[in-house]
Amino acid sequence: MKRAIVTSALPYANGEIHLGHVASTYLPADITTRFLKATGTEAYYVCASDDYGTPILIQAEKEKKTPEEYVKIWNKRDYEDFTSFGIGFDFFYRTSSPENISFVQDTFKKLLANGHIYEQEIIQFYCKVDKKFLPDRYVIGRCPYCKAEDQYSDLCEKCGRVPQEIEDPKCSICKNPPTKEKTKHYFFKLTNFVNELNQWLEEDSHLQKDVKKYVQNWIKDGLVDWDITRDIKWGVPIPLDGARGQVFYGWFDNHLAYISSALKFLDERGVDGKEFWNSADIYHFIGKDIVYHHYLFLPAMRIGIKKEYKLPDYIPTRGHLMLQSKKISKSRNWYIGLKDFLQIYPADYLRFYLTLITPYSQDDLNFDWDEFYARINSELIGNVGNFVNRALGFTKKTIGGIIPSMDDLDAADKEAQNKIKNLAGEMTQLMEENNLDRALKKILEFSAHFNQYFQKKEPWKGGRGTNNCIFISVNAVRSIAISLYPFLPDSSQKIWSQLNLRGKVSEQPWSSMSDIAINQGHTLGESSPLFKKVEAEDVKVHKSKLGQ
Ligand code: MF3
Ligand code: ZN
Repeated sequence: MKRAIVTSALPYANGEIHLGHVASTYLPADITTRFLKATGTEAYYVCASDDYGTPILIQAEKEKKTPEEYVKIWNKRDYEDFTSFGIGFDFFYRTSSPENISFVQDTFKKLLANGHIYEQEIIQFYCKVDKKFLPDRYVIGRCPYCKAEDQYSDLCEKCGRVPQEIEDPKCSICKNPPTKEKTKHYFFKLTNFVNELNQWLEEDSHLQKDVKKYVQNWIKDGLVDWDITRDIKWGVPIPLDGARGQVFYGWFDNHLAYISSALKFLDERGVDGKEFWNSADIYHFIGKDIVYHHYLFLPAMRIGIKKEYKLPDYIPTRGHLMLQSKKISKSRNWYIGLKDFLQIYPADYLRFYLTLITPYSQDDLNFDWDEFYARINSELIGNVGNFVNRALGFTKKTIGGIIPSMDDLDAADKEAQNKIKNLAGEMTQLMEENNLDRALKKILEFSAHFNQYFQKKEPWKGGRGTNNCIFISVNAVRSIAISLYPFLPDSSQKIWSQLNLRGKVSEQPWSSMSDIAINQGHTLGESSPLFKKVEAEDVKVHKSKLGQ
């Protein structure tokens, strides 16, 4: 049996999940896991909240909570929001778990023993006004590479690089220029891994070509060793005497929770987690802002502990979601919370629309209310919903939902049957290539073909060929249910129930979408419209809430 572990970028336990999070990462990972499971792969979708880091500490302090209390709240809330969006995690854990803490500390000790860690006195920004060391987001300034202004000292959002030293620094709390103080930090020798990183990039044929290219260019430009220590109290403690209460940088510990959470989940099921990990296909779904961490730090750390846990096979990387053509920003209140959205429309509407607009590339995407309105009404409802309802409703109304036998097939019937036979092969290829948007469009094409077929056969006239039309159309509805399942789990189950077939749609083998499995004499269940139209008036209201 094939195995897979799927992860998506761990959400910071620091504020609500919004549409920007789900489009490029959680939804594609969920669809992929459902697809893998349907093809018989033993696949698990593992995620966790990303609990450490300075922004979380600052926010907890503001809200007069301990950081532990604070992250617990968001861990729970995130999980609930994801679940109501149909994100089917097999396990959702946290980076602050005891398992992750000891996994991170062990990994550090191994890296140290293998000669990949050194200690160095550094000069660290310090704010005399706020009386603190100023790591990462505490300092803003100009990116030394691309010269973009107002960038955090730990990541340039313009060019995606991790600056060694930000220019023209300012304390992000009080905006005064910081002073510099001495402190001792641990460094990870990223420069030890140039050859092996290049080799991995070369050999892993599943990585996206364009992403690979620019990561290779970063390596060519020269890597720098990575400061993995922070002078704050919230993080995984450095397990050495003389560490003076310092902790690890959040990006040192967070991606290790992919492994530690998977191990916990698998071990609890009585499976040897390590053995499973090393025999599985490993997928890490991410947004393009964290390429540096996933294509350099993460593989280098795994190589540094002698590949005790295998490197990723796939790192599907997608672009950012814009909202009404503008960059999403929580601080400027330009975003839509996932929970709020799901109070207005079903999860499947959002899953449908986001999948259609999200290609397998780093291009940015755009959530647009008018487009959402048009696509749901004309493509989800006008095409898929219409065909399903027409085929099942007609059969129910005219012949009590009992499937008739077939007569001789004409050319249109044969063509329609072939569409069913070919669907699984075409869908599988697109899904395996990670072209989820194109796979969903394939279902739309399929459904559109059957709308035309139904129209052309005019079964309401009751002439020759009516039985064939009903027989083949009802089977096509079944194909739609199975193929649609990874994308729209709720709606596909509704279709399955209306077909009155045994079991759940989620239990059907993926390739069986190409079978003609509904036979003469089968009786359909109750048929009713699957979807409700999006109203133009409501869309106006949603837009006006954004000030548009
Ligand atoms: N919390 C990080 C972010 O939102 C992502 C962490 S992904 C990790 O950017 F796996 F590497 F942890
Ligand atoms: Zn830059």
